[in-house]
Amino acid sequence: MKIKKAILTGGGRATRLYPITTTTNKHLLPLANKPMIFHAIEKAVEAGIDEIFINVNPGETDLQKYIGDGGHWNIKIKFYEQRGGPQGIAHVVKEAQDFIGNDPFLFYLSDNIILGGIKEMVDEFNQGRYDCLLALSEVPDPQRFGVPVFNENKELIDVLEKPANPPNNFAVTGIYLYGPKVFFKAFDNIARSARGEYEISSIHSYLLKNNHKVGYKEITGWWKDTGLAEDLLVANKLLLDQMGGSHFPNHGAIDASAQIVGKVKIGIGSRVGVGVKIIGPAIIAENCILENCEIGPYVTVGQGAEIKQAKINNSIILENCDINCDIKITGSLIGKGVKIIKKHHQEAEGHRMVVGDKTVIEM
Ligand code: G1P
Repeated sequence: MKIKKAILTGGGRATRLYPITTTTNKHLLPLANKPMIFHAIEKAVEAGIDEIFINVNPGETDLQKYIGDGGHWNIKIKFYEQRGGPQGIAHVVKEAQDFIGNDPFLFYLSDNIILGGIKEMVDEFNQGRYDCLLALSEVPDPQRFGVPVFNENKELIDVLEKPANPPNNFAVTGIYLYGPKVFFKAFDNIARSARGEYEISSIHSYLLKNNHKVGYKEITGWWKDTGLAEDLLVANKLLLDQMGGSHFPNHGAIDASAQIVGKVKIGIGSRVGVGVKIIGPAIIAENCILENCEIGPYVTVGQGAEIKQAKINNSIILENCDINCDIKITGSLIGKGVKIIKKHHQEAEGHRMVVGDKTVIEM
């Protein structure tokens, strides 16, 4: 039986990305100017999925507004609330049990960004040799992840969640395939971990210790779990590098004095005025106004932003920002509607700011 259904994560608190995630769902943060979760949906669709279930935090409606019913990708998408709020990612799957029924499925953590596809992995699973197939990736910091344990024949024998002393340098990534029923049987046999969550690694450990066929496949291309602002910047950079020239059309109005170098997308209604230099790869979304500034490489600017005088590289700027002063910005994630502007008075009284909780400003 071929995998046609997928569960994607859309909930969680994303405290490591505060303050941006106090007002924006992490899964809607843009990477290469597209909500992060769209990248996950596209990988699933490419691999043959035609029905996706996305969990959302109770009461939240933003994902539904951005994603819609799946018509955009020619598939069906349904949303469901995780009753009682976040309780671990295995619980996210348990809550979708009625949708999954007796079918095999893909479970994809939407904050996992990969450059390659998952079609090969899904095709291999569809041949029917496994109850569960895990995607592994070699990482420098395995203690941050689920870590596989192998025997001397390189067979998987256990999975440990965030071990202090990892036995090897592999992470179990957030891309998992399960055969009919096995997940839910395992869930009924696991307990909450010390941090009070139903861990996905407990599911895999249970399956391995109870003679289920759990295989693995190494992701050889690039993989990242985008838990931190630095991770988002790296993912943004690599996605921009990977995108072909056809993804960078120019629909803006460009002043004759402006210089545009390399792959640069300029959205409809944007005005690139005098003295602007944009170095690709870079994306300027719709209805932006740029004047006397230098943007790029590796910058994405959300719609409705205004940038004057500043020099910005390697940064993600969300929509409706107003950056209007002589400032150099690098390695930054700037939230919606942020203003970084000139002082209105001359006295050297100091900088005036209205800054959200847990903001980081380096001067
Ligand atoms: C979760 C899983 C972990 C996995 C990781 C992949 O960790 O618990 O096993 O390796 O996702 O992204 P979290 O990111 O929730 O800490």
